[in-house]
Amino acid sequence: MVVVCVTGASGFIASWIVKFLLHRGYTVRATVRDPASPVLSVVQDPQLWYTLSKTLAESAAWKFVRENNIDMVAINPSVVIGPLLQPEINASSALVVNLINGCSQTFPNASYGWINVKDVANAHIQAYEIASASGRYCLAERVLHFSQVVKILHDLYPTLQIPEKCEDDKPYEPTFQVSKENAKSLGIEFIPLEVTLRETVESLKENKLIEF
Ligand SMILES: NC(=O)c1ccc[n+]([C@@H]2O[C@H](COP(=O)([O-])OP(=O)(O)OC[C@H]3O[C@@H](n4cnc5c(N)ncnc54)[C@H](OP(=O)(O)O)[C@@H]3O)[C@@H](O)[C@H]2O)c1
Repeated sequence: MVVVCVTGASGFIASWIVKFLLHRGYTVRATVRDPASPVLSVVQDPQLWYTLSKTLAESAAWKFVRENNIDMVAINPSVVIGPLLQPEINASSALVVNLINGCSQTFPNASYGWINVKDVANAHIQAYEIASASGRYCLAERVLHFSQVVKILHDLYPTLQIPEKCEDDKPYEPTFQVSKENAKSLGIEFIPLEVTLRETVESLKENKLIEF
C-alpha cells in the first residue's frame, strides 16, 4: 500500500489530485490547515505579494531539499480553471465567474497562461510516478489575453452577457510563450482551453455559483 500525503487537500487543485490518486489505488493522507498559521488577508497590491511569496517559498523548498538530499519536482501551473469538486469558488475560478455573472462591465487588460485543473492534477501524479521527472514543470495549454478568452466564451455561449470592453484604453498586455515540451515528457496532452472553459462554466452552473 503506497500512502501519499496531500497538503491543502480540500482546495481546488488538491481535491482533483486526491480524486485521481484514489482512482489509481493510492491511500491518501490529507493535511488540514494549522489554525495558528499566519494568513495575510489585507494587503496592498496582492498580486505582487502573491508572486513574491511563491518565489520565496519555492526557492526555500529547493534550498531545503538540496541541503537534505531530498528528491523534489516542482509543478508550476499558470491560471488553473476547470470543474470544481469543492463547494466554494477559489481565486482562479473567480476570474471566470467575474466575466460571466454580470459582475463586471469590462474585462481585465491582462494576459495569462491557462490550464485545466485535471491536467495539473495529473502532472503532479506523473511527476511522482515517473522516476526521471526532475526540476520545474511550467504548465499552460495556451497564453491568451482576456479579450481572447472573452471571445471563446462568447462563441461557446452566444446568449451569455459577457463584457465587451477592456478595463482601460492602454495597449493590450502582450502574450508570452510557455513551452509545452517539458510537460509533455510527463505525458500531459493538454485539454484545449475551449473544452476547459466549457467545463468550468458548466460546473459553476451545476454548483449554482453562476446563474443564466
Ligand atoms: N488556482 C490557480 O490558478 C493556481 C495557479 C498556480 C499556483 N496555484 C497554487 O496552488 C495552490 C492551490 O491552489 P488552489 O487554486 O487549489 O487554491 P484553493 O482552492 O484556495 O486551496 C488552497 C488550499 O490551501 C489551504 N491553505 C490556505 N492557506 C493555508 C495556510 N496558511 N496553511 C495551510 N493551508 C492553507 C486551504 O485550506 P482551507 O480550506 O483550510 O482554507 C486550501 O485547502 C496554492 O498554493 C496556489 O497559490 C494556484
